[in-house]
Amino acid sequence: MIPTIEWKEGVVRILDQSRLPDEVSFVDCKDYRMVAHCIRELIIRGAPAIGIAAAMGLALGAREIDTADYDKFIVRFSEIADTIASTRPTAVNLFWAIERIRGLVNKNKGKSVEDIRSLVCDEAKNILEEDISSNRQIGRNGAKLIEDGDTVLTHCNAGALATGGYGTALGVIRAAHEEGKKIKVFADETRPVLQGARLTAWELKEDGIDVTLITDNMAGYMMSRDLVDLCIVGADRIAANGDTANKIGTYTVAVLAREHGIPFYVAAPSSTVDGSISSGNEIVIEERNPEEVTHIMGKIRVAPIGVSVANPAFDVTPARYITAIITEKGVFKPEEIGKTLGS
Ligand code: MRU
Repeated sequence: MIPTIEWKEGVVRILDQSRLPDEVSFVDCKDYRMVAHCIRELIIRGAPAIGIAAAMGLALGAREIDTADYDKFIVRFSEIADTIASTRPTAVNLFWAIERIRGLVNKNKGKSVEDIRSLVCDEAKNILEEDISSNRQIGRNGAKLIEDGDTVLTHCNAGALATGGYGTALGVIRAAHEEGKKIKVFADETRPVLQGARLTAWELKEDGIDVTLITDNMAGYMMSRDLVDLCIVGADRIAANGDTANKIGTYTVAVLAREHGIPFYVAAPSSTVDGSISSGNEIVIEERNPEEVTHIMGKIRVAPIGVSVANPAFDVTPARYITAIITEKGVFKPEEIGKTLGS
């Protein structure tokens, strides 16, 4: 699989997901502003990948602060962190990564600014490596829930592209496939930005996993015909009570799964659990550009000029619809997640 994001001698190389599946191209970010632009414009997207990009953006930012004085350094560093934090509001991994790097900078106040710059860079690379190994563990933990011959429905893209590599929801599917289980996947296309059609279908096809693309409004039909055994999705933020924000349309899938008695799993690293909020009501939902709805991929207009548009990028699935949350630390009931992982 092509790396989603890499640190290459002072340049952050990002696979341009806005051009997939037609074009495999990269954006070489030489400063944090470019990384922030890539996050905002979905050139890199998916909660864990956004967190990694934020950390690498901070590493680039730290390199351009031209001072040896810690107090001056920290003022500018905080401004850079604020810029990166303002890119997207919902995925908690963005803020988690920024706080992890900020904590490291604060803890090493006694060291030279030069040393701090290199510590930040090493930490950003660690976040990438840890994410990949977390995803492999999520895969191993979740694969036990998939039986040979199962058909899995997934929504959006929670794959290698949405993470440092391997994926969360798709990591579980990959691990089951690697164990030799014969599985089929329905990938919801995921309007309006089509992460399912453009990214999930592409990733699974590349890996030789049996994938069938459906439009979002076909999920209920597939379930009603007994064609789906379980659903697995990723997460952008999990509240202490297990309520889970994920791509718009996830809630619909969860309600449909309940109606048809189909297990509905969320797969996410523990960095996606936000123990500071008690329920999903506190999750800020990003509202994106109306053009994502009125146009297909910014190109073909499918609505009348001037029509009012709503474009919430995420919804919240209440914990009661979630069968279990698969993490690298184990598989938990949603109501257990806050006390187990929410510190
Ligand atoms: O707007 P996006 O493409 O960043 O939304 C991505 C999702 O909703 C994913 O399902 C989620 O971030 C989990 S990725 C492992």
